Amino acid sequence: MGRLKVGVLISGRGSNLQALIDAAAEPGYPAEIVTVICNQPDAQGLARAESAGLPTETIDHRAFDGRRAFDVALTAALEAAGVELVCLAGFMRLLTDGFVAHWHDRMINIHPSLLPLFPGLDTHARALAAGVKLHGCTVHYVRPEMDSGPIIGQAAVPVLTDDTPDDLAARVLEAEHRLYPLCLRLIAEGRTAIQGNSVTIDGGGPAPAMIVNPTP
Ligand code: GRF
Repeated sequence: MGRLKVGVLISGRGSNLQALIDAAAEPGYPAEIVTVICNQPDAQGLARAESAGLPTETIDHRAFDGRRAFDVALTAALEAAGVELVCLAGFMRLLTDGFVAHWHDRMINIHPSLLPLFPGLDTHARALAAGVKLHGCTVHYVRPEMDSGPIIGQAAVPVLTDDTPDDLAARVLEAEHRLYPLCLRLIAEGRTAIQGNSVTIDGGGPAPAMIVNPTP
């Protein structure tokens, strides 16, 4: 069987894109990145994709008359590249319901919190303000409501005394870079099934790989 064809959508730094690039370069990894699409012409992530020799496309949302026209262009570019699964990796545009419906069960996202806690922005500062002792990240299928959808995997990290939002963000980011390639692998190997709002792995048997425990 061929490798799953993935399109990655980014807006900025692209460190999660890099984690996926590195994973896909490993022999036997079941997914390949066939296009990287960015809505910000000067994003660092574009340079990462180019260094890896990947096809890139910049689709600047400011050139479009409204979200719908932008999303139509995104889908056209993804389909032209033969994309089977869309990976959002720090893509900072709200997507239309039409786009989300078109890619239903074929689009995943990484979010820097243990959803359903802290959807939206500033997750690390909000976690500190809430006094939680565990924080982390989530990879999930995308549904119309922002940062919702069946959860594929989560990684937890401890919140340490005197953490700043930046300290916590850095700890979570390391976990993101482990979690995203792991979740993509499971999907590409056909080991995930969506049942309502939950994802079962390997037919619903034990799936310890999808919980990355905190360092004591
Ligand atoms: C990550 O924290 C990701 O969880 C969130 O946006 C950030 C993107 O970072 N959705 P990068 O561009 O992958 O470095």
